[in-house]
Amino acid sequence: MANVKDIVKDFYTVEDAMAFDEKTVKELQHKHLNKVRNQLSDSFFFTKAEGSKFWDEAGNVHLDFNTGVGVTTVGSNNPFVWEKIKKVVESKQHIIGAIMYHNVAAAFAHDMGLLSPGGKLTKMGTATGGAEAIEGCIKLVKIASRNKKDKTRILACENAFHGKTTGAVSVGGKEQWRKFQHPLMECVDHIPFGDAEALEKALATGQYKAFFVEPIQGEAGVKTPPKGYLKKVRELCTKYDAYMVADEIQCGCGRSGKMWVCQHEDVIPDVIAFAKGFSGGIVPTGGYITTEELFEAAYDSPETCFHHSATYQENALCAAAGLATLQYILENNLIENAAKMGDYFIGRLNDLWKKYPEIIKEVRGMGLMIGLETFALPEKCQGEMGTYYAEAINHDCVMKYHVQFSHTFNNAAVFRFLPPLTVTKDEIDYAMDSLEKTTADIAEKTA
Ligand SMILES: Cc1ncc(COP(=O)(O)O)c(C=O)c1O
Repeated sequence: MANVKDIVKDFYTVEDAMAFDEKTVKELQHKHLNKVRNQLSDSFFFTKAEGSKFWDEAGNVHLDFNTGVGVTTVGSNNPFVWEKIKKVVESKQHIIGAIMYHNVAAAFAHDMGLLSPGGKLTKMGTATGGAEAIEGCIKLVKIASRNKKDKTRILACENAFHGKTTGAVSVGGKEQWRKFQHPLMECVDHIPFGDAEALEKALATGQYKAFFVEPIQGEAGVKTPPKGYLKKVRELCTKYDAYMVADEIQCGCGRSGKMWVCQHEDVIPDVIAFAKGFSGGIVPTGGYITTEELFEAAYDSPETCFHHSATYQENALCAAAGLATLQYILENNLIENAAKMGDYFIGRLNDLWKKYPEIIKEVRGMGLMIGLETFALPEKCQGEMGTYYAEAINHDCVMKYHVQFSHTFNNAAVFRFLPPLTVTKDEIDYAMDSLEKTTADIAEKTA
């Protein structure tokens, strides 16, 4: 075989790339990928990621309390998940399942059905990410309602985040992500999240096919709805013949202390969108699970069945990663760990809130999906330190103590904590000690 460099002189191989130093990576990335996004995000170059830890080129160890925004549920590079993916690779089986029969994809859909609320969402549509999963949900409810002539519109929530494709920003409720994509899907209306009265008023018009809702709004700043809201949503969607579509892409996968947030209120939605954590952060994945009735209303005919297919759907590597991640979560009691560690973490955050009521406005969340909202910095301190205390505190936690928290793009006042479901008490203590020291420093600097 000829050496690739004899064919294309400056070609980089995987081996070359893995030996790049930080400077080269940054130069190449700025030249060929999204330079400004990396610069504005203060992006790091990590040379290794394992469990709850990242290593940078200087050898510093960083604690991961962000998990790529809720993706590496079972820790980075989980060896159990890699082992199962390797098994599929080594078997040399056909990888793409979309229009073939596929053993691993079939097993994943089966197991997700078993773990769905009430075991009722036994049909799956697959995707390669969250936004594509949402597009799949939009299409599902449109095709399923194609003969209901009065059902012309879709209802969704203000401030919701469902991804950045055109359909997803249409059901999304933030103009920030919609503004350069107009014209959007014109059939979507938005109501305030958590407001059952507004929901009933809208649904009573009889024009809505479906209501899209995040059971906990993530990007909006970890907003939890009032108790009983999801139950009411279920009742109203049934009463007015609208499908309930729960986007559990960020809050699902055991993070809340149950597999699905809807299960905290014994609610069985018609559709749940999933992505992020379901492949352990190793391969791109996503999709939805739904009832047999709804899926068949959409796709159980030769006229419609091909309307949901895409090249990488029902991909064996995604399905293997999904199966392995679920197995790892269940066998290691990680959902119970999320509930227990979440209570401990929220308890420590509440103590911090009591100590700094002039800095912290609220602590909220469920399990290991936690938000901490801060007030605006005093005017004299705004600018370089940011606008909100969250920005200043986050910056110092990352830089001084190497704890990777994140604050939400949609709400800069809010810190978001999304550690892996494997997180330990010691890791929470380290993160909390860093947060406490940083908050004390910032309180002194801004006094
Ligand atoms: C609730 C929710 N839905 C959808 C998405 C979009 O997922 P993806 O980034 O994989 O397209 C996200 C991503 O943050 C999300 O939090």
